[in-house]
Amino acid sequence: MKDNNFIRENNARHMWHPMGHPADSLANPPKVIKSAAGVTITDIDEHVTVDAVGGLWCVNLGYSNDVVKDAIAKQLYDLPYYSAFAGTSNPTAIEASYMVREMFAEDGMSRVFFTSGGSDSVETTLRLARQYHRLRGEPTRTKFISLKKGYHGTHFGGASVNGNNRFRINYEPLLPGCYHLPSPYPYRNPYNETDPAQLAQNIAAAFEDEIAFQGANTIAAFIMEPIQGAGGVIVPDASFMGLMRDICDRHGILMISDEVITGFGRTGSWSGARHWGVKPDMMCMAKGITSGYFPVGAALMSDKVTDVFENDTTGDGAIFHGYTYSAHPVGAAAVVACLAETQRLDTKTNAAARGKQLFEGAQKLAQKHSMIGDVRGGEGLMTGIEIVSDTAAKTPMDMATMKRIHQVAYENGAMVRLGANNILMSPPLTITEQEINTVLSALDAGFSAV
Ligand SMILES: Cc1ncc(COP(=O)(O)O)c(C=O)c1O
Repeated sequence: MKDNNFIRENNARHMWHPMGHPADSLANPPKVIKSAAGVTITDIDEHVTVDAVGGLWCVNLGYSNDVVKDAIAKQLYDLPYYSAFAGTSNPTAIEASYMVREMFAEDGMSRVFFTSGGSDSVETTLRLARQYHRLRGEPTRTKFISLKKGYHGTHFGGASVNGNNRFRINYEPLLPGCYHLPSPYPYRNPYNETDPAQLAQNIAAAFEDEIAFQGANTIAAFIMEPIQGAGGVIVPDASFMGLMRDICDRHGILMISDEVITGFGRTGSWSGARHWGVKPDMMCMAKGITSGYFPVGAALMSDKVTDVFENDTTGDGAIFHGYTYSAHPVGAAAVVACLAETQRLDTKTNAAARGKQLFEGAQKLAQKHSMIGDVRGGEGLMTGIEIVSDTAAKTPMDMATMKRIHQVAYENGAMVRLGANNILMSPPLTITEQEINTVLSALDAGFSAV
């Protein structure tokens, strides 16, 4: 490995970073994280912080899980790669598919389609939703409905159902036939409705209205995150997903639960849909499926969808979709080990307890710092803190101030993530009470500095 001088001199000089301006990366070089252990990360200056981001909502097991590391290393020697396009498979992928299916059987899932990440999983569900309706003899069902503030990755399909305009505008025109409902976001919504249960009813009414307007027989699927993550950790009322499920059922619309963040325990349940007592028709998975140790995603299909594909006799049920790295043996080894560890450690239980602690701690900070406009979370280990410059007007805080809060929190021992004027936190599900306290005191220092 090159020395630190080389790394500093070349930082951001040859690489464009996702989700940032290339000129900004050159002017303000990114922090270089060189190692990690437990739930802490260490930068090139040997500064150690608690990683309240969990890498990127994904390192659920923390950074030191040797079971997963050893499984990956062993697989590299046994079989580093082979294609899973129809005609060939590999033992580890078969085992991984069995484990994923078992884990989500309670959600009604019966088949697994492996991908390389979350955006791929979203794309897979959107495409197969259209094919499902064609196979059923309703080829006019091609449209997608989703929620504002939702994040579904960056492929064209996912970006088209995305509900945050910063991920859309520069890439328009996006896929036609995608329509958005208001987010279940009591702090800001077009109804000025602060009661989450009433807001859920209002959005359900808007959904019905949109279906009537579009024509139910033109709509393939509705996609939502059980808790909106990148959009600011927006936790809907407990009734919300069930209301949407019911409407989908009445109109023959598939429900896709995008569980890329909420899957594998983050909400305190093994899936976000299960957390809300809902059985979707398809699920999108990634991140926690390998704890981020290897890029893997999965699209899961319910019995209803499976039957339509597997009972097709016309040939049109063939899936002409997939990725070179679908069912990658090394990724599959990571999945097998990661799921075994996730279940052995029962990470969902710690996620629920530590999530409550982080949420309540953030609420206490809100009493002290008036710039905190809204605190969201309390359903597992994902917390959002929305910062405003004027509490009454809810004016989003400027980015320079957000960056200052971020930097001071970092200097005081916690890496957090900024999403516009939100501070987003999704630490490893293995985090301890003491480490959550470190995150809260670092944030306190950040807010006190501006
Ligand atoms: C809910 C959701 N869906 C999809 C994605 C896209 O996943 P990826 O970045 O692995 O493509 C993300 C990423 O954060 C996500 O949060």
